[in-house]
Amino acid sequence: MKIIPGPASVELAEKIAEELNLSVVKHSYKHFYDNETYLRVDESVKNETILLIQSTHFPQEKHWIELLILCSTLKDLGAAEVISIIPYLSYARADKRKIEGEALSHQILITLLEKSGCDSIITMNVHNPEAFYSSSKSIEKININLFHYIGEELKSKYNNFVVVGPDKGAEEDVKTLAKLLETEYLLFEKERDALTNEVKMQAPDYSFENKNVLLVDDIITSGGTAKLASKLILEQKPRTLQFLCIHALSKDEVYADLKNMGVEKIISTNTIPNKQLEQLDIAPYIAKYIKEKFL
Ligand code: R5P
Repeated sequence: MKIIPGPASVELAEKIAEELNLSVVKHSYKHFYDNETYLRVDESVKNETILLIQSTHFPQEKHWIELLILCSTLKDLGAAEVISIIPYLSYARADKRKIEGEALSHQILITLLEKSGCDSIITMNVHNPEAFYSSSKSIEKININLFHYIGEELKSKYNNFVVVGPDKGAEEDVKTLAKLLETEYLLFEKERDALTNEVKMQAPDYSFENKNVLLVDDIITSGGTAKLASKLILEQKPRTLQFLCIHALSKDEVYADLKNMGVEKIISTNTIPNKQLEQLDIAPYIAKYIKEKFL
């Protein structure tokens, strides 16, 4: 087995290679003047099993194209098997038609990966696991819930925190985390307008006064959810409020807004690299999973 990093996940892929003691396939990437990516595999991959690591955060389309081109090229060069590790799988929220005529982009992209020769997809905390698993039958799909792993890591620091999810969809995650941290969890009720994207929220019947609160979500994008939940919690004067998510997709000003509101710390994982945030390294967890399943 060998590893090849996609241009979006070079640092993470190198860490995973180190953890697994696997060699990194020699490769050359560059950007042309018009920003197209040039990709070249510089050693034989014939009959090899290749772990291709590429997250698909902003610019999503560019990262997807790179992933598809790399996967296809590896197969074309004779790789026996390509396992695509996609720490953040973008477009997963476009999994159903809320309005007639909407594109089912999630299914379309999984089908494209399948057509490019990808044998297995491993992703983390995908938006809707059910839609992911039913998106294409002939490709192996694995969704890793990173909360199981990071919960163990956070145990010593967060055992006197109450864990809060911003909506019912977060229940499984906050429950998992609260169990690992040996604490209680609470949920907000959230509604989002499909057309305007406006978020409305109702706080649980609980007093956050003087409590250590860990607000948890799988993903932060516009920050609307985290900001509104934070506002409602901060109004009740908690001792501290921290925010934890797996995929941090927001622009820097969103994190700055949260900090200015009074959120003491923002923690994410490095499924999407971000030097401004405190990031939990997922490389050891991915390596552990690969070791148990494939080696
Ligand atoms: C929603 O179901 C998700 O779990 C997140 O709460 C949501 O996607 C966060 O998005 P935003 O930061 O735009 O509110």
